[in-house]
Amino acid sequence: MIKWGITSNAHDAALAVVNTVKGDQPEILFAAHAERSSGKKNDAWLNQTIVDQAREFGRPEEVHWYENFNLKRLRQIRSGQWKTAWNKQSPWHTLDKLDVVWPTPWTPVSSAMVGGMSGAPYPPSLHYHKHHASHAAAGYFTSPFRDAAVLVIDSIGEFETLTIWQGYDRQLKRTFSQRYPHSVGLWYSSMTQRIGLKPNEDEYILMGWAALGDPERFKQKIYDDFFYPLKNNSPEIKFKHNLHRGCRWWAPELNSLQDYADIAASTQAVYEMIFDHLLKYIKHSTNNKNIVIMGGCALNCVANGRAYKYFDNVWIMPNPGDAGSSLGCVLDDVRDFTEYNTAYLGYNIAGDYPIENTIKQLKTERMVGVANGRAEFGPRALGNRTLFADPRGDDVQDLVNTVKKRQPFRPFAPVIKADKVHDYFEMPQGCDESQFMQFIATTKHPDQFPAITHYDGTSRVQTVTAEQHPDLYRLLDRWEQETGCPILLNTSLNIKGEPMVDTEDDAKRWHERYGVKVLTKEGE
Ligand SMILES: [Fe+2]
Repeated sequence: MIKWGITSNAHDAALAVVNTVKGDQPEILFAAHAERSSGKKNDAWLNQTIVDQAREFGRPEEVHWYENFNLKRLRQIRSGQWKTAWNKQSPWHTLDKLDVVWPTPWTPVSSAMVGGMSGAPYPPSLHYHKHHASHAAAGYFTSPFRDAAVLVIDSIGEFETLTIWQGYDRQLKRTFSQRYPHSVGLWYSSMTQRIGLKPNEDEYILMGWAALGDPERFKQKIYDDFFYPLKNNSPEIKFKHNLHRGCRWWAPELNSLQDYADIAASTQAVYEMIFDHLLKYIKHSTNNKNIVIMGGCALNCVANGRAYKYFDNVWIMPNPGDAGSSLGCVLDDVRDFTEYNTAYLGYNIAGDYPIENTIKQLKTERMVGVANGRAEFGPRALGNRTLFADPRGDDVQDLVNTVKKRQPFRPFAPVIKADKVHDYFEMPQGCDESQFMQFIATTKHPDQFPAITHYDGTSRVQTVTAEQHPDLYRLLDRWEQETGCPILLNTSLNIKGEPMVDTEDDAKRWHERYGVKVLTKEGE
């Protein structure tokens, strides 16, 4: 049976197609972000192109929605967001506008409304899932663990903002739930806005900016002004203010760029303190050696490594935010594990991976785009929609930053063969791989690789094995043969504020606009 999972109508719309056969593991056939086909960064809405791509994998018999629309509307009404509550388009309106279903001659699309609203007998049916249940299922059922603690931290779904679950033998039992308005994610987004960045989008920039600031300068003040004291033996994180509308009122005078950097650093330090508190609580209360971390806050790769202090094994699904819940809501329905060993699940650009041409371009131009194979499902480029560059030398960071129009303080990430990672990086203790770029490591040779080394001496590493991505592994091998260097700089093939390249046409446009060659297959 083909089941669709949908995230839409808020931010980061996405669609996942899962094949479920009784007795077999569910198989992920397709998963993609709507922004890649619409060209609008963090697009909140599904579009016909992504729907058409998904339809190629067969007709859905069920459609699952990543949250409960009715409960969410109730929360919006209760919290005084009247306008949003009444203006908000319902899931069935969204789906009815799109050509989602396959109408039979007696069931026109408009009356074959998903969910049977019109009483039409025609499937697919529409099923709502709780926002945090979708996050927890996306994490637990893609993990390699059968017994694991699950921590979900995000801004807000319906009412829940922080939940802890126990996953055992295909059952997920919620053991703690914190509710709106107490929300770690909303607070982090408010601080993002307070330093002049865009909330719900630029949190990763705050995280990067933090390395330039003094974490001690505002740490205590932030903690005292926003938080009630943390309690031992309790995962409760209580706030003194409702931060849904931000905290522009918050006091410190900001006169210099250093002031902003110090707030970023102090915010990150407080977040890590809270994250640590939660991890410690979960470890002590469950004694589990496995943890799954999900929700938008699980994108905080600077903090994520702390989980290895308390747990032997850590799994963060590579798309832990709401977009990943498009898959999570289907898994919440199926309640079975799926093998998740690849993030290459989106639109396919056919043809051989351009290994030799990439090497040639890197040696002459030092930078080249590659758009080949299936697009990554998740916020990071992992080799299939990537701008590669030679990581050696002092001028590379400026060279790539100029093309990508990013803030000059932001470093780039390295991709390295997994068997070489310990020669070049100090990984978090107990962590040998970072297949999906979810952890930071200390760079052992910062002078050789300034472009991939942040101000604090760290790098957000992607490791790759021959099994995970044979072509990318071969590319790194060939690069090492040619230069003695097993590392490439790897950044997403996009420009600040725009989504990543998706199709062959996008690749062509990117090349024409920015003058850097994008290879879509070997031999072109
Ligand atoms: Fe969420």
